[in-house]
Amino acid sequence: MCGIIAYTGNKDAVTVVLECLKKLEYRGYDSWGIAAVTGDSISQVKRVGKIGEVGISQVKEAIKSENHTAIAHTRWATHGGVTQQNAHPHLDCTGTIAVVHNGIVDNHDELKGGLAGHRFISQTDTEIIPHLIETLAKRMEFGRAAVEAAKMLNGRSAFVAIDSKSGMLIAVRKGSPLIVGVNGAGAGEFFVGSDVMAFLDYTNKVMYLDDGECVVTDGSGTAPKFFALDTGKELQKRVVDIHWHRGSAEKEGYDHFFIKEIMEQKHTIAAAINQDDDKIMAVADAIRNAFGTFLVGCGTAGKVCMTGEYLFSRIANKHINSVIASEFANYQHYLTPRTLMIPISQSGETADVLEAIEVAKSKNSRVISLLNVFGSTMMRASDDFFMVNAGAEMAVVSTKATTAQLAVLTLLAYAAAGELQEGKFLLMNTAGSVNDMLNPRYEEHIRNLAVSLAGKKDILIIGRGLNYPIALEAAIKLQEACCIPAQGFAGGELKHGPLALVEEGTPCIAIVANDETKNDMLGSVMEVKARGGYIIGISPQSHSSFDYWLKVPDAGNASPIVNIIPVQILAYHIAILRGLNPDYPRNLAKSVTVK
Ligand code: F6R
Repeated sequence: MCGIIAYTGNKDAVTVVLECLKKLEYRGYDSWGIAAVTGDSISQVKRVGKIGEVGISQVKEAIKSENHTAIAHTRWATHGGVTQQNAHPHLDCTGTIAVVHNGIVDNHDELKGGLAGHRFISQTDTEIIPHLIETLAKRMEFGRAAVEAAKMLNGRSAFVAIDSKSGMLIAVRKGSPLIVGVNGAGAGEFFVGSDVMAFLDYTNKVMYLDDGECVVTDGSGTAPKFFALDTGKELQKRVVDIHWHRGSAEKEGYDHFFIKEIMEQKHTIAAAINQDDDKIMAVADAIRNAFGTFLVGCGTAGKVCMTGEYLFSRIANKHINSVIASEFANYQHYLTPRTLMIPISQSGETADVLEAIEVAKSKNSRVISLLNVFGSTMMRASDDFFMVNAGAEMAVVSTKATTAQLAVLTLLAYAAAGELQEGKFLLMNTAGSVNDMLNPRYEEHIRNLAVSLAGKKDILIIGRGLNYPIALEAAIKLQEACCIPAQGFAGGELKHGPLALVEEGTPCIAIVANDETKNDMLGSVMEVKARGGYIIGISPQSHSSFDYWLKVPDAGNASPIVNIIPVQILAYHIAILRGLNPDYPRNLAKSVTVK
């Protein structure tokens, strides 16, 4: 949450950070701001709203001159409402130190108490940082003051501070992500971003900044220096080339990333299963041999984990556990060095998952992550990783990364059953069916349904077996994109409570797979229908109880992949009809880097 970018180099810094910041918008889009070193002072611009359509001329109205050092921020509010004053960067009293920050300063009230006489103009926790540095810098040089200030902060944080008097820039990592980009062999241009996506258009050469470290540059083009925060010891870092084809981060003619990424599933499922057989077999062996395997994720990735539990039971006859990352610490008593944890995350930056990894590591359990973003914090925190190859996912609502994760887990389950080739065959056929499914007529058929659902106050979704977690995932899509309080249930649970929600015309999406759950699912459908529910059947076959049929291919054990796609399209069109921007759901951000 919140995106940070900093640049120092020979280009116009404001132009560079503006371009980079647009690549980070999915991390937060309440408000944005840019500050640049202009002579011996700092000029800045801050605005409420999204950075997306802002042009350089608008920024240059506020920051007129060419600058070689600048920082920028796109915000997802934690402390303090969405106002121009609360937008970052924040300045000290002298206006010579500016800070952008991602994270939460848990002890900001206490620290503020020690800053009597300072002028605060925002309600943010961040604003104490430049003032702390200002105070400390009266007795020591700026870089040292920033380090000492960082040590005083409790909670997960990452910040970049610039000082117009010394021309220095310092980036500190204490629990929230930051990565350094350099141009050439470590000298010349220097970037710091919340993730590599921010500056990948400028350089693919990175130096990893780990937790408890800082990096300093004096803006003169000499190589940046890395230090340990606690000891002050200088650290030697390697320049690493990132060879990652993240795919296009542009809309390419589509109105929104959301629909573009839905359509990209024509290719991404095939890309997901394009894995190294030896690696897949090694992970499958690790699962087979582990004394307990935990799939761990949040939100949509959490529902993928849950689906994984069903897939392994069904295909590999193997019990594995799925746990929501924020609950994982409660399972620590079951963890041993023989436990295997498989975190699943699109961004690779989710704070709850990172904390879960720390819990697993504290018990010496093995961690193999399933990721979509190369170079992410999770990749480096894990013993091993493998990628789902979905390419950059820009819409906050996850679509193509979800089906790619489902495809890889299905493949893994087949591998664990000793049937890797059968799994590949099934998934290649499924990828082909998805390609056929995603045609304009299908989308129009779903859009027509969206017209009748756009005004509804709630939507129920039911599924069983493999498709019970998909009913839960479908509910997340409708909640976040459409702001409809949709709820997913296991079909069998209806009579234990949720049936009370059904009244005349209540829409109920029923996921009826062609498997052993089919008859029971149709029984659940009849229960809803008998009470006036309007049934939308997602199924390979039509049924007389369906009021509206969304046909899907009969994909066997890959049914979760094909069954979620019509709901993704439905959520997109309902969002549009309700006047919502489906790329930027209310109150959410893509990379959830706070607990
Ligand atoms: C929903 C969605 C979120 C994420 C969750 C975990 O569409 O995108 O629920 O799935 O925040 O994010 P990652 O996968 O980045 O760990």
